[in-house]
Amino acid sequence: MRASDIQNDLTDVLVTEEQIRAKLDEIAARVAEDYAGKDLLLVGVLKGAIMVMADFSRALPMSAAMDWMAVSSYGTGTKSSGVVQIRKDLDTDLHGKHVLIVEDIIDSGLTLSWLLENFESRGAASIEVFALLRKPDAAKVEVRSKYVGFDIPNEFVVGYGLDYAEQYRNLRDVAVLAPHVYS
Ligand code: PRP
Repeated sequence: MRASDIQNDLTDVLVTEEQIRAKLDEIAARVAEDYAGKDLLLVGVLKGAIMVMADFSRALPMSAAMDWMAVSSYGTGTKSSGVVQIRKDLDTDLHGKHVLIVEDIIDSGLTLSWLLENFESRGAASIEVFALLRKPDAAKVEVRSKYVGFDIPNEFVVGYGLDYAEQYRNLRDVAVLAPHVYS
């Protein structure tokens, strides 16, 4: 789905499909250089990361294994607690692996900061983060992210894997959702 297909639901397109593709190529080249000769495992965080994982892994000019985590915030439904529940754990033993966590967005940073801490105890050779999007103004905790695609304003964004009530993940671009949709 293109932004023009649902223009009444959106206010701005922040990052276009073309900009995403160019950025993924650029970061994939960097990653291939940084991980040359290493056993690389890409870990996608469901569900938001499906698009970035699908496109980034195919842009990567080297072989890499893929695995998935599904996590959700505990209890209240707000993300502010920072307490995360594992809904689907990895199938892979991380011992000796060079892990690159692939995320669609760092918002408050709480999900990734919890995941990084959780992964630290699993014996990986290294753990780094690639986030396509980051909202610097929404950060509650600093997350060390080696690869970041785009810093964006603290707005309600959807598309390219990001949802509102499970909708809009299949939008090709990243766009700001019009307030009338959620208010
Ligand atoms: C989104 C996104 C990140 C997380 C970032 O996932 O995919 O995993 O929120 O937010 P944070 O930095 O504030 O922790 P969400 O929990 O909405 O689930 P989803 O990926 O299934 O949409």
